[in-house]
Amino acid sequence: MPPTPLQLFASAMETAIHKLPYFKTINPSFYTARGTASFRVGLRRSSSSLSVSASDREGDHDLGHRTRPDFPILHQEVNGSKLVYLDNAATSQKPTAVLKALQNYYESYNSNVHRGIHFLSAKATDEYELARKKVAAFINASDAREIVFTKNATEAINLVAYSWGLLNLKPEDEVILTIAEHHSNIVPWQLVAQKTGAVLKYVTLNENGAPDIGNLKQMISRKTKIVAVHHVSNTLASVLPIEEIAHWAHDVGAKVLLDACQSVPHMVVNVQSLDVDFLVASSHKMCGPTGIGFLYGKSDLLSAMPPFLGGGEMISDVYLDHSTYAEPPSRFEAGTPAIGEAIGLGAAIDYLSGIGMQKIHDYELELANYLHESLRAVPNIHIYGPVPSGNINRAALCSFNVDNIHPTDIATFLDQQYGVAIRSGHHCAQPLHRSLGVSSSARASLHFYNVKEDVDDFIRALNDTVSFFNSYK
Ligand SMILES: Cc1ncc(COP(=O)(O)O)c(C=O)c1O
Repeated sequence: MPPTPLQLFASAMETAIHKLPYFKTINPSFYTARGTASFRVGLRRSSSSLSVSASDREGDHDLGHRTRPDFPILHQEVNGSKLVYLDNAATSQKPTAVLKALQNYYESYNSNVHRGIHFLSAKATDEYELARKKVAAFINASDAREIVFTKNATEAINLVAYSWGLLNLKPEDEVILTIAEHHSNIVPWQLVAQKTGAVLKYVTLNENGAPDIGNLKQMISRKTKIVAVHHVSNTLASVLPIEEIAHWAHDVGAKVLLDACQSVPHMVVNVQSLDVDFLVASSHKMCGPTGIGFLYGKSDLLSAMPPFLGGGEMISDVYLDHSTYAEPPSRFEAGTPAIGEAIGLGAAIDYLSGIGMQKIHDYELELANYLHESLRAVPNIHIYGPVPSGNINRAALCSFNVDNIHPTDIATFLDQQYGVAIRSGHHCAQPLHRSLGVSSSARASLHFYNVKEDVDDFIRALNDTVSFFNSYK
């Protein structure tokens, strides 16, 4: 019997995918836990499903070993060593399922959305809107129309600052931020404060090295119009009690914007139980493509907000002297959106949900403690943020400095000599670094596909690096 069109398509996809891995690969069975079956390299599998079957996922301690095969990029050498990727807070890696979703879009139904009536356009529109529904379900928004696709989280914060902020902020109104915010959650508010006369107030750190919640509570008053804070700090690894903060803010009629860039990829985030008014996140940190992020906004707020950018399908009617605007979310999606990327984000959400965010979080807590404990033993090290304990949880990342060694020297040496990828610099948190009395730090950040062996490799390499630099003193 001649092959069906579907079989032909599947075989074409398989051939195309076999051509993809041009980098030097390492047998991923290297990473598999002792006593478990070995896995094949993600890209070589013809199915887009997870390597982890539902029953496999019961053993959460092995989540890293089980999911690594889904990430082809991890199985390569860098500078002659096995890659140890510990820069996940900057961006995460992408599983095969996401790569395939992107490839499938461009190969089989690439078209513009919300414009054409032809088959490809209808299919692209359906998939784009399905991705919106997946985002809504992922964060438990009650309606997909509360999700606006943006370029990234930064654009989403700018959208709120310019649209909601310019409309609602008046001179002397207060915007509450913490000193630990990413620049993306500081600069837009500075720009809007300069235009409106609003005042920015910053919560400082407490004696544990985390944002001082007592200080934040005291700062909230009738003058407060919005509290714009991170959920998980990208530098301190601390977690803010958002439900409580939202409660305090709403008591005085203020809104809450949650920068969930470092929480949505790692834990269950439920906008209804947190009761935040806005939430932003970036796809590339949650195993999805770059070039897309999203804003969640409560429908009554989005409906009352003016457009941020103009043009494209964000209109209802255009006249020579004025225009009327579409309902949200279209009102805020001017021009051709990142269609393939939105679909890729949808595939990333399917992938993460297939594992389960609670399982990811539980496993990452183990990694977080292991990383902190292992790093603490390195001589002359200073780790920023709270020390994990019974009631203090940290995210699986550590920013640190070692006495008399520049963090960029550490990161460069780790990369070139050991293939260990960490970040060095201010992590887009200059005010925080200034308050810590340093200009920069090194940062190792993990995701669920990391394993304790990655931490061991990193610590071994770091100890050697420290000895190397100290030998020149
Ligand atoms: C806490 C936090 N907020 C905002 C951002 C900005 O994200 P993006 O550059 O994807 O817009 C980041 C990225 O590092 C972040 O960690």
